[in-house]
Amino acid sequence: MTLGTPYPHSFEEFLAWQRDLTPEQREVRERERDAALRDEIGQRNAAHRVAMAQRLSNLGPRFAERTLDSYDCPPGDPMALEIARDIVAVDGQRGVWLCGGKGTGKTHLAAGIVNALTNRAIAATFVSVIALMDQLKANYDRNGKPRVNQVDVIHWLAAVDVLVLDDIDKAEFTSYTSQRLFALINQRYEQGGYYRRRPVIVTSNHMPADIAIRWRKKGLDELIGDAIFDRFRELCGQFVRVEGESYRERMMQERLA
Ligand SMILES: Nc1ncnc2c1ncn2[C@@H]1O[C@H](COP(=O)(O)OP(=O)(O)OP(=O)(O)O)[C@@H](O)[C@H]1O
Ligand SMILES: [Mg+2]
Repeated sequence: MTLGTPYPHSFEEFLAWQRDLTPEQREVRERERDAALRDEIGQRNAAHRVAMAQRLSNLGPRFAERTLDSYDCPPGDPMALEIARDIVAVDGQRGVWLCGGKGTGKTHLAAGIVNALTNRAIAATFVSVIALMDQLKANYDRNGKPRVNQVDVIHWLAAVDVLVLDDIDKAEFTSYTSQRLFALINQRYEQGGYYRRRPVIVTSNHMPADIAIRWRKKGLDELIGDAIFDRFRELCGQFVRVEGESYRERMMQERLA
């Protein structure tokens, strides 16, 4: 039996229902109406959650457009793309350390993962480590005095489902910022359970061991450096070399030609 529109759109329609329909037909209609309302609310909630996740993704205009589908293979690295797709397939419950030469598409892949996850309403946040360090340093004035109204995003970044740390090797760390990085990594490490992890996706031109050596040479606290990079082992889980030539260079050459 087709009863047309599942719920009355006006009071007149409601009266007509009462008048024209048998009690059984009314019951069927009411059930259809309830299901339609639940559907509508569900869809609105889902759309709202996706919009929220997208707003929190922190992707700038350039990388907001980068997706895994727009990562060309070749010249891109098919294995790195497959790993990125696998991360999306498990709803971001796996991290990765993407290491490779300049312009090989590491940030593109990381942004592509964030885009795909936020479309699934998963809280994935992209952070440039240089910008994060600058933000943290701004909490202190030139004389090293803490400013009032300090903004420390560490607690928030510790809580997002998936965190991307872009260009970790390009940032200049100080004793203070390395401690804040430790706090961030340690909180994610401690909060992540077996069933609900807090993975991290890192992009870098170097592997963690090389960065730890550089930190030591710069006189940064060895224990903190080792503790950070040790935790990355679990939070990233896989360490991948992104092979290939610089796409950036290639695009520039094409433009000049
Ligand atoms: N395989 C690819 N397909 C499409 N676009 C690509 C690919 N690789 C890189 N790009 C584009 O080239 C530009 C440079 O890539 P990206 O910034 O991701 O490189 P990177 O590996 O992060 O470099 P760096 O080490 O300097 O940070 C970006 O605009 C990116 O979207
Ligand atoms: Mg990059």
